[in-house]
Amino acid sequence: METVFSGIQPTGELHFGNYLGAIRNWVALQEKYRCFFCIVDYHAMTQNYDPAEMSRRTLDMATDLLSCGIDPDKSVLFVQSSVPEHAELCWILNTVTPFGELARMTQFKDKAERQEDNINVGLFDYPVLQAADILLYKAKLVPVGADQVQHLELAREICRKSTARWGQYFPEPQPLLSSTPKILGLDGQAKMSKSIGNTISLGEPDDVIRKKLATAATDPQRVRRKDPGNPDNCNLHSLHAFFSSQEQVAWVREGCASASIGCLDCKKVLADNVVSHLAPIQQKRQAFAASPGRVEEILREGGRKARAVATETLAEVRKLIGLWS
Ligand code: AMP
Ligand code: TRP
Repeated sequence: METVFSGIQPTGELHFGNYLGAIRNWVALQEKYRCFFCIVDYHAMTQNYDPAEMSRRTLDMATDLLSCGIDPDKSVLFVQSSVPEHAELCWILNTVTPFGELARMTQFKDKAERQEDNINVGLFDYPVLQAADILLYKAKLVPVGADQVQHLELAREICRKSTARWGQYFPEPQPLLSSTPKILGLDGQAKMSKSIGNTISLGEPDDVIRKKLATAATDPQRVRRKDPGNPDNCNLHSLHAFFSSQEQVAWVREGCASASIGCLDCKKVLADNVVSHLAPIQQKRQAFAASPGRVEEILREGGRKARAVATETLAEVRKLIGLWS
């Protein structure tokens, strides 16, 4: 059985971008693959954060993932820092990573611009830690959103460099994109991201979800109700494609293009569908909230399973690269 690995930062809120870009794929993949899903707290430390909040954010993210359908009987769900081998392999891979390749990473440049007061070495090294996450479990498939494709390309290159230096050991991983790999934020401009503040999160109450959708940007060409729109230029259309039935999508496409329906009509149908899709996820979250020790237990067990694999890999790697033991 092939191995799947993916990670998500403990931002404390799972938003529609994460869900449609990546997490729904995670849930589907666990039926057929050996899956490791990791809450990457070491990565999250590269941005400004409040230490008093980190462990709550980690538990909240785990609760969200479990509520979406990550099943601890099928997948290993764990926290990155409970497996320190991630940091050890990162160091080893640092020694075959070209500095120039890291300097090209667009996410590093974007984040460095947004946190000018904190351009730390960890932020620069972030993609190498990500490569270590994946290679530690010898994962071949990595389900992510489009924003991670460049990091995956680098992970593949690091893998090839490690083969050139030490011989064949790690398999080369591949990204796996969902049919909605890039969800824009409610502003319709940038990708949906917590740090930009343009998100809808899965845990939001129904009335907030409805209100946020009602004010979300649509096709910028459609200024007045009677202007025909182009659904392909409307960010909400990618949400319809996922949450609505084929008939509803056809109704929206026709109605928007002919201006026979307004954006509010389209948004109302979308909001109803989103709210009913999220209802069972929200119910599960409430059930987990009622037994708080359960999530911690799942993470500890996941940490034990992941660590067993990681220590084995590291023992082999240390031998391969010629360290004394
Ligand atoms: P992050 O919250 O940055 O840790 O991202 C977790 C996963 O969600 C990664 O696979 C990302 O590629 C994916 N993701 C994050 N934001 C978006 C977005 N706006 N559209 C599609 N996928 C996304
Ligand atoms: N950098 C990824 C993100 O922000 C999260 C991540 C860390 C990851 N390690 C990973 C994703 C390994 C896939 C595989 O979305």
